[in-house]
Amino acid sequence: MRVRLKGDAICTLFLLVVLCSLLYFQLEHLVPVGNKELTQKKPSITSKTFSDSRAPWRLMPAEATEPRLQVTPVLRQREVANKRVQTTTLSPLSDSAFNFKGYLLNKDNRNFDLLINQPKKCRRTPGGPFLLIAIKSVVEDFDRREIVRKTWGREGLVNGEQIQRVFLLGTPKNRTVLATWETLIHQESQMYRDILLWDFMDTFFNLTLKEIHFLNWAAEFCHNVKFIFKGDADVFVNVENIIDFLERHDPTEDLFVGDIIYNARPIRVRKSKYYIPETMYGLSIYPAYAGGGGFLLSSHTMRKLSRACKEVELFPIDDVFLGMCLQRINLKPILHEGFKTFGIVKPSAAPHLQTFDPCFYKDLMVVHSLKVAEIWLMWNLLHSPRLSCTQKKQVKKPFQWKKKAQTTMQASPLR
Ligand SMILES: *[C@@H]1O[C@H](CO)[C@@H](O)[C@H](O)[C@H]1NC(C)=O
Ligand SMILES: *[C@@H]1O[C@H](CO)[C@@H](O)[C@H](O)[C@H]1NC(C)=O
Repeated sequence: MRVRLKGDAICTLFLLVVLCSLLYFQLEHLVPVGNKELTQKKPSITSKTFSDSRAPWRLMPAEATEPRLQVTPVLRQREVANKRVQTTTLSPLSDSAFNFKGYLLNKDNRNFDLLINQPKKCRRTPGGPFLLIAIKSVVEDFDRREIVRKTWGREGLVNGEQIQRVFLLGTPKNRTVLATWETLIHQESQMYRDILLWDFMDTFFNLTLKEIHFLNWAAEFCHNVKFIFKGDADVFVNVENIIDFLERHDPTEDLFVGDIIYNARPIRVRKSKYYIPETMYGLSIYPAYAGGGGFLLSSHTMRKLSRACKEVELFPIDDVFLGMCLQRINLKPILHEGFKTFGIVKPSAAPHLQTFDPCFYKDLMVVHSLKVAEIWLMWNLLHSPRLSCTQKKQVKKPFQWKKKAQTTMQASPLR
C-alpha cells in the first residue's frame, strides 16, 4: 500500500514536471519575434543616446533593423475613432503593407530636392502676405487644386488682407502617371505660380517629409509672411473667419491653433492597421497634435518649428510628428472650436437629413473631408448676397439642391 502511494506521488510529480516543461517551451515559441526584440531593445530607448528627455522618440537607426513582420499601414487615430475613411488618393488602406524596417533604415534620408519652386511667392507685396495658404495635394488631384483656387484658396485681397497660396506636392508613386504629368505639372506651375514639388515619393507615410520641407521652404522663401494656414485639399476653409481671428493676434508671437487631439495612444496591436511598434515610439501617449484637415500658425512659430523639426526623427504619421516638434519647443497648441470639424452634416447628406444650413458653416473655420462639388457649393452659398444669417436660431428649412444652387450660380458665378 505504502509503495503504491509513493509510486502515485512520484508519478504525479513527474507528470507535473513534464506538463510545466511543455508549457514553458510552448510559451517561448508563442512569443513573437518582434516582442522579444522589443524587450531587448527597450533599455536602449532610455540609454545615453537619448539624453534629450524631450525627444524620447528619437531612436538610433540600428535599433529596429532586425527582420520584422511587414505590417499594414497606420491611419490617423482620430479617423479611426470616427470611422472615417481617407478620401485622398493617398489612402493608406490601398497601400501595400508598410515596411517599418525600411522606414527606420531610410529615415536619415530626409533632404530632397525642390523640383519646382516659387521663390517670389511672398515677395509680390511689400510687407509680405498676411496669410499663406499651404495645401497638401498630389499631382493627380488637379481638379481639387482647381476648385480650391477658385473658392477658399483665392489669392489677393480678402477683407483687406493679402492672401497667397501654394500647393505642396511630391512625385507620383505611380510611374506611369509621372510620365504624363511631368509636362502638365510644369504647365500648371507656370500658369498659377502656386506649385511646390519635391523629389520624394508622394505617399501617405511620406507626408512627414512634406511637413519638414514645407516648413524649411517657408522659413527660407516666405519669412515675411504673417500667418500660415496649412491644410488638406479636401477641406473647406472659411478664410474670412480665419482672417478675423488672426487679426487679433501678433505674428511675432507663438501661435498654433487647430483641432487639437490630446492623449491619443499609439496602437500596439500588431495586426491592427494602425500599429506603431514600440521600437518606433516607446511612450504610451502621443504629444498633443493637430488633426482634422488644417491648422494655423504664426510666422514666429513657423520659424521655430522649422528648426525644431530638423532635430526630431522622422515619424510616419505627419500630424503626430508635428506634435513632437511642438513638444520639443514647449509650445502648447491651442484647440479652437472653429476647427471642430467632426459630426457636421455635410451637404451631401442633406437630401436625406434635410438639415444643411450654410449659416451653420458661417461660424466655422475648417470643415474636413469634402468632395470637390461640396467645396464649390459651400463657398458659393456662403458668398451669396442672398444669404442672411441674422437670426441666431433660424428655423431650419428643408434643403433644396436645385433652388439654392441656381440662386448662388446667379449670385456669384464661378470663374
Ligand atoms: C498607374 O496609372 C495608370 C494610368 O492612370 C493606371 O492604368 C495604372 O493602373 C496605375 N498603376 C497603379 C499601380 O496604380
Ligand atoms: C518616401 O520617398 C522616398 C523618396 O522618393 C522613397 O524612397 C520612400 O520609399 C518613400 N517612403 C514611403 C514610406 O513611402
